[in-house]
Parts: sequence; C-alpha cells; structure tokens
Amino acid sequence: MMTESTATSAGLKGVVAGRSSICLIDGEQGLLAYRGYDIHDLAKHSTFEEATYLLWEGDLPTRADLADFTTMLAEQRNVPESVLDLIVNSPIDAPPMATLRTAVSALGAADPLGEDMSSKANRAKAARLTAQIATLTAAIERCRHRLEPIAPDPALNHAANFLYMVRGERASTAASRAFDVALVMHADHGFNASTFASRVTAATLSDMHSAITSAIGTLKGPLHGGANQRVKEMLDEIGSPNYVVDYVDKTLAAKKRIMGFGHRVYRVEDPRGRHLKAHAEKLQDEGDPMMLETSARLIEVMHQRKGLSINVDFYSASLYTYLRLPPDLFPNLFAISRIAGWAAHILEQYADNQLIRPRSEYRGPGQRPYRALGER
Ligand code: SDX
Repeated sequence: MMTESTATSAGLKGVVAGRSSICLIDGEQGLLAYRGYDIHDLAKHSTFEEATYLLWEGDLPTRADLADFTTMLAEQRNVPESVLDLIVNSPIDAPPMATLRTAVSALGAADPLGEDMSSKANRAKAARLTAQIATLTAAIERCRHRLEPIAPDPALNHAANFLYMVRGERASTAASRAFDVALVMHADHGFNASTFASRVTAATLSDMHSAITSAIGTLKGPLHGGANQRVKEMLDEIGSPNYVVDYVDKTLAAKKRIMGFGHRVYRVEDPRGRHLKAHAEKLQDEGDPMMLETSARLIEVMHQRKGLSINVDFYSASLYTYLRLPPDLFPNLFAISRIAGWAAHILEQYADNQLIRPRSEYRGPGQRPYRALGER
C-alpha cells in the first residue's frame, strides 16, 4: 500500500500530479515536445490542424488523414444562432474572455450531445469546440464594435479563417502563417493551470463543455493566459528602450511582476519564444518596430536584475499587435489554440479516470464546543 505523501507544496510547485502521454517538457533543458515531436520542428513544418491531430491521435497524420481532419474541422466552425444572439447582446465593455466563457457554457446547453459521455460523442464535441472557439472570438470582436459577425470560410485553414472572420478580408500569407505558428506554439503545455483545471473537472465525469469552461476561466488570469495582454500594456507604458531600466526597477521595488517573464517549469528561455519573435520581426512593418527594441532591452535588464527569461506570452504580444489584433483579445487568441490541448487532456482523463482530489495541511483552530448566540 503506497503511503500518502504528506508533503505540502505551495501552488503544487514541483508536484507530479498525474501521468500523461501528450506533452513532454524539460524545464532545465528548455525542451518541449508534443507526443515526442520537438516544438522547433513543429514551428517550422506543422500547422494548427496537424498539431491538433497529433495531440489527439498520438502521431502525425498521413496526407489523406490530414486532409480529412482539416475538412472535418472546417465544416464545424458555425455556432448556433442562439449563441451568436448571446454574443450580440453581451455588454460591449465585457472582457472578451468573460464573453467567451459564457458563450462556451451556452454552447454546451445547446449541444444535443452535451450530456452524452460516450467516447464518440466526446471526440465529436472536442472537434466542434476546437472549430468553434475561433468563430466565437471573431464574433465577440466584431459585435463589440457593432459590426456584423462574418461567417467562416471553409476554403481557408483555421488560422487564415480566423483573421478573415475578424477583418472581413483575407490576410496576407505572412500574417496567416504567423498566426498559424502562434496557434501551434500555444496548443499544449502539459499540466499548466488551465489544462489541469479542465482535467479536475473532467475527472468528476462532468461534461466536455463544463471542463472547457473551467479551463477558460483559469486561462483568463494575468499569471497565466492573461499575461500576453499585460505584456502589450507594459510595452505601451514603457514606450521606448530608454525607459526600460526605470520601469523594471520601479516595478520590482513595488514587489510586482514583470509580465511575460518567468515560468513555473522553465529555468531557461521558453523554447516557443524564438518562433513568436521571428514571426513578429517579419511583420514589424505592420506596426511600431520600437516595440521589438523595447522588448530586447527588457530581456537584457530582466536577465541582469532577476536572471529571468521570457515565456510564451512575451513575444505573442508583439506578434498579435502586428496582426492588428487588440490587446484585450490576446487571451482569447491563447484559448483559440489551447482548446486543442485541453481537449486532448480531457479525452486522456476520461479514458483512464480517477477523481482528482488532493488533501490540505490543516492550519485552523483545534476542535472546540459550540457557544450559544447569547454567550458570544
Ligand atoms: C503561461 O504553466 C504553464 O505552462 C503556463 C504557460 C502555458 O503554456 O500554459 O507556459 C503559459 O501562463 C506563461 C506564464 C505567463 N505569466 C506571466 O508572464 C506572469 C509573470 N510571471 C510570474 O508571475 C511567474 O513567473 C509565474 C507565475 C509564471 C511563475 O511563478 P512561480 O513559479 O509561482 O514562481 P514565484 O512566483 O514563486 O517566483 C519565484 C521568484 C520570486 O522571487 P523571490 O520573491 O523568491 O525573490 O521569481 C520571481 C519572484 O518574485 N519572479 C518574478 C517574476 N517571475 C518570478 N519577479 C518579477 N517578475 C516576474 N515575472
């Protein structure tokens, strides 16, 4: 009989909370691989559709499998009118992640397979949600600016179609490829907070939409998927490389965090950063190139002051800005990709399930007798 560990770790730091075959991360080496395929190879050669197939099926697709999978996803991008109406009637100043969280929950209520927990139904819901979160996000962006949502174009891949649904016109090849690489980079990352939240929910045998709603609420936080928005706000506040030292010293003196830096697992640079930086550099003429100069100076100063490296959110901010997307939509862009990883982990959890329920180290008062109201 295994003795239960009584060690307490704040934030579960260093705790191995389960087994998974999906994503390998070596924080000391700065290594990341989806089902054994290195992130650097995937950045060069893969697409969001191929990476999603890889995460779900466990290996790279053949040409025919990829064509079928791409068509299947493209055919599922539409969302029910009732959910579009909910988005149209949402407060225009609501955070886009709050509206997305609500819309996904509404999708679950409207889905005829919503409560069907068979493997076939769960796989179908995974595909539907992966196709629909981009459509929901584009509709949120259009509706909050009082613009009509644009119907998906099945002739475009996932990345190009999202940019088309936001802009109303087709994006350049460079912009579409840049966003596709960003989607591959963000697709999975092991037991990160939002994925773990989705597994905790799935482990109660709750439904797929509930598990994804848990994940969206978790990703929204600024210490996780909300960091990319705050990186852009930080770059705007700093304004130029000349003001980086003052900003960093003031922020650290206030015991605040510099967004886009540090990571629970990586002790060296997040391997995804260089690919997001490369595509941001290719698109920098679309915006203010000063952002990249300020970013480079921040990297120098944060290395000197705290020995910290960038994480995935750092260069995402510049890339998404050069894609002409607004900062408060950036966490939704993370969700458009991470739905692939969340779904992979939820399906893995369902396939070999055990309720996830840790213990706590009790720090409260000892047992004591009840005292009547008049005696308090
Ligand atoms: C993502 O987990 C994942 O895989 C997440 C993710 C994914 O793909 O799903 O990679 C995506 O969420 C990336 C992280 C995005 N968040 C941010 O950029 C927010 C800023 N980063 C920090 O808040 C922090 O680095 C965390 C939350 C990401 C990780 O923090 P930990 O592991 O809880 O470590 P910690 O907060 O205890 O910090 C350890 C030390 C502290 O110094 P001391 O107080 O001990 O002297 O490092 C310092 C911290 O002060 N530190 C920072 C810092 N990050 C850590 N100091 C200033 N700025 C920072 N960003």
